[in-house]
Amino acid sequence: MALISLEHVTKEYDGKPVVNDLSLKVGQGELFVLVGTSGSGKTTTLKMINRLVDPTSGVIEFADKPLTSYKMRDLRWDLGYVLQQIALFPTMTVAQNIAVIPEMKGWSRQKIRAATDELLTTVDLPPAEYRNRMPSELSGGQQQRIGILRALASRPKVVLMDEPFSALDPISRTQLQDML
Ligand SMILES: Nc1ncnc2c1ncn2[C@@H]1O[C@H](COP(=O)(O)OP(=O)(O)OP(=O)(O)O)[C@@H](O)[C@H]1O
Ligand SMILES: [Mg+2]
Repeated sequence: MALISLEHVTKEYDGKPVVNDLSLKVGQGELFVLVGTSGSGKTTTLKMINRLVDPTSGVIEFADKPLTSYKMRDLRWDLGYVLQQIALFPTMTVAQNIAVIPEMKGWSRQKIRAATDELLTTVDLPPAEYRNRMPSELSGGQQQRIGILRALASRPKVVLMDEPFSALDPISRTQLQDML
């Protein structure tokens, strides 16, 4: 069974295709990587899989059902997304940023707190020091790490990552890749 499948997907902006007749399948447990030059349509493809944008033509399926047959909320729960521009919520603390989807899922306070602290520890950000910081009080690489934790926190079925390790030094990058 394919977890994600694209069949002849095209996305046009102003009548010009930026993704042109793309077909692919990603199975459970598979690590699938899109490689391409700047502007070749990688981010657009991820956004279509997450329904931030809809294709002009073609069909995208998640777990063998068209994306359009899912409630938007259910998709957000099942697909974690690390954006190319990190975009943490600026008025929320680090812990609140990580907890967005777990909160929506109705996890208990204790469970959220335990999961948040464990994740922060994994990426070498001591919870006592970082839990209550605001995104503006973090370095770019630290913000990037929180963006990744936010996508992983609720253990989604799929994690879409858009150049998630680009702002990181080689040591943090290796650490996060191992964690993933
Ligand atoms: N909302 C939009 N309206 C018009 N054109 C767009 C829009 N979004 C993206 N594009 C264009 O679509 C093309 C693909 O963009 P996309 O962001 O998918 O590229 P990318 O492969 O992720 O590039 P990069 O490696 O630089 O991140 C680009 O030429 C871009 O200018
Ligand atoms: Mg991109």
